[in-house]
Amino acid sequence: MGIRRVLVTLAVALGTALLVGLGASPASAHAYLASSSPGDGVTLAAAPRTVELRFTEHVVLEATEITVVTGDGRRLAPTGLTLAESDEDQEAPATVVATMPALGVGAYHVAWRTLSSDDLHESAGTFAFGIQSEVQASGPSETNPDLFELASRWAVLAGLGAGLGALVVGRLLGRLPAATGRMPRARLHRLAGRILVVAAGAALVVALVDLVRFGTGAFTTGYVVRWGVREVALLGAAFALGRGSWRSAGAALVGAGLLTVSIGHFGLRGGPTWEVTSTVHLLAALLWAGSVGALALLGLRSAHLGLSHPDVRSVLRGFRLPATVSVVVVAVTGTYLASDVVVSVDAVLLTTYGRVLLAKVALAGLVGAVALLTTRRLHARGVRGAGAGRPLVGVEALGLLAVVALAGVLATGQPAVSPRLVTEQAPSVIDDRPVADLQQTVALRPNRPGASVALVDVLDTRRPSPGPVTGVSVTVRDVASEGAGGGTSRATSEAATPVTPSRWSANLVLPAAGAVDLDVVVHRRGVDDVRSTVHWVVGPSGSDPATVVSRAPVSDLLAWVSVALAVAALLAAVVLLRRRRPFAAPSRGRVRGAGEVDGPAPRDPAPESGRSGSEPPSGRQPDVARGSVTRAGAER
Ligand code: HEM
Repeated sequence: MGIRRVLVTLAVALGTALLVGLGASPASAHAYLASSSPGDGVTLAAAPRTVELRFTEHVVLEATEITVVTGDGRRLAPTGLTLAESDEDQEAPATVVATMPALGVGAYHVAWRTLSSDDLHESAGTFAFGIQSEVQASGPSETNPDLFELASRWAVLAGLGAGLGALVVGRLLGRLPAATGRMPRARLHRLAGRILVVAAGAALVVALVDLVRFGTGAFTTGYVVRWGVREVALLGAAFALGRGSWRSAGAALVGAGLLTVSIGHFGLRGGPTWEVTSTVHLLAALLWAGSVGALALLGLRSAHLGLSHPDVRSVLRGFRLPATVSVVVVAVTGTYLASDVVVSVDAVLLTTYGRVLLAKVALAGLVGAVALLTTRRLHARGVRGAGAGRPLVGVEALGLLAVVALAGVLATGQPAVSPRLVTEQAPSVIDDRPVADLQQTVALRPNRPGASVALVDVLDTRRPSPGPVTGVSVTVRDVASEGAGGGTSRATSEAATPVTPSRWSANLVLPAAGAVDLDVVVHRRGVDDVRSTVHWVVGPSGSDPATVVSRAPVSDLLAWVSVALAVAALLAAVVLLRRRRPFAAPSRGRVRGAGEVDGPAPRDPAPESGRSGSEPPSGRQPDVARGSVTRAGAER
C-alpha cells in the first residue's frame, strides 16, 4: 500500500471515529423506561403530585405522550410535562416529569409513548399504581419494531452485504484467468453498487418520512451527522465498486458499518468495546451472507457469465477460508453481544426480542451445518462438476438472508433487559436522611408482603462521637389496618444484628401490600436513643410474571462463553496451521495425487465461452496450473 493510501485510510478511520464519538454518552441507543415513580404495581398512601419516568436515553419531549387511565376507563392528561435533564446534553438519559391533576383513591394505569433523540426509535409501554388501593403491575412492556425503521435497516444491511460480498467474491474471481473472471467481477461490482445506491435511497426516504412524522425538533446534531456521513459512505462505496477500486470500497463499507452500528443498540453504549465488537459482528456476518449470496448468483448465472463448472467450483473452494473466519468471528462476537441484551433464560423465552434472537441463532446453526455439508461435498474426492455444492449454496444463501432479516428485527426491537426478568434484586432504598447527628439509610429487600430484610446504615457524623451506636431495632406498623380498625395497628418489632460496624440487619415480616410505617430506634451509649419513622408502601406480591425456567442472570456466563469460544478458535487455528506446515510447499504431483485440487481433465466443457473446459484459456493461466493457486487448493 502506498504512503498516500495509508494516509487516506488513516484519515477515513480517524474521521469516522470522531463522528461516531460525536455526542457519545454511556447510554444505550434506544429509550426504554428504566424506572418510574411511582413504581409499577406500587400502592401509595396519598395521591402523587407528579409521575416521573426515567428513560435509558434522551427523549424528544415534543414527541412524548403520557396518559393516565383511571380504573373506570377515564383518560386523564397530565397538566404539565417537563424534561428533568438539561436539553444541552441531548444524548444523556432523561427523566420526564408529568404533573398530575387531582387523583382520588383507586387504581391507575399510565400509558407512555416517546421517541429517542439518538436514533428516532419509538418506544411505548404502561405501568400501574394504586392510591390506597391494590393494583396488579403491568409487568415488562416491549415495543414492537417500527416498520419504517425496520425497512431502512434492512435496506442498509442488504447494501452492506452486497458490497462486502462483491468485494470478496470479486477477489476470488480475480484468481481465475483474467479473460474468465473480469466480466463476472465487473457485473458483480455493478450490481452491488446499484444495491448500495438503493439502500442509501431507502434510508433517505425513511429519514424524510421521519421528518414529516416527528418534525425537525426530533433530530439531534449527532444523529444527523452520523446518518449523513453514512449516506456518503454508502454512495462512496458504490462509486468505488463501479471504478473497481476495492480498497476504497472496503474502507467506505467499514465506515458505513461502524456508523450503522452507532445508530443502534450498541452505538454509544459503554464505549469502544461494544462499538467495535458490534461492528466486527455486523461486518463479518454481512461478509459471509453477502458472499454466499454472490456465490449463489454466480452458480445460477454461470452460463450467462461465461463461467464453467470448474470455474465456479474453484471460486466456491476459495471461499472456505473467509467463510471459516467469518463464522468463527460471528459466533464469538454474537455471543458477547448477547450478554448485553438478554438478562436471563426467561428473558429469552418470554420476550419477542429473546425469541427472535433464539430463532436467529437456531437458523444460523442450521445454515452452518449446510455450509459444512457444502464444504465436504466440494472437497470430497470424485464429486465434481455441477452437483458439487451449488444447490446447497442456494439454500445457504436463503438461510442467511433470513438470519440477516432477523438481525434487523433485533436491531430495531427492544432488548430483553427488564430488571423484572432477572432475580438479582437491588434492595429498595426507602429512606436516606440525617436523623439527629446521624446519617441514616433504610433499605428493604424484597419490598413484598411476607419475609423481608431491613438494612439500616447508621453513620456517626461527629468526631469524636458523643455516643457510639450499640444497637438498632425496627418496628413495622401496618397503617392500612390502623385506618380500617379505628386506631389499633398490627406491629412487629425486631432487634437488628450488626453486619458491619455501621450496618444493621433485621428480619421483618411485611404486611399485605399497602402503606406501612417503619419505626427505627438507634440505641447509643451514654446518650438518648434516636427515633425516626419512615412512611413506606409495600408492593404487591404477585406483580412479576411467574418464572418459566430461570431468572438467574446470564450476562457473565455469556461473556465467558464468548471468551471460551475465542480461545478454542485460536487453539484450533494454531493446530491447523501446524498440521498444514508440511504441505506448505507440496510437490505438484503429490497434491494432485491426493485429489486435493481440480485437475485440468475434469473441467466441464464450456460451450458458452467457446472453449473446452480442458483447455486453458488465453491470458492468465488457469488456477489449477499455477503453483500459487495449487497451494491455495492445498490450504483449503
Ligand atoms: C452465535 C450466533 C449469533 C448470535 C448469538 C448473534 C447475536 C447478535 C446480537 C445480540 C446482535 C445485536 C442485535 C441488536 O442490536 O439488538 C446481533 C446483530 C447482528 N447479527 Fe448476529 N448473532 C449470531 C449470528 C449471526 C449470523 C450468522 C448472522 C448473519 C450471517 C448475524 C447477523 C447479524 C447482523 C447483520 C447484526 C447487526 C444488525 C444491525 O445492527 O442492524 N448474526 N447478533
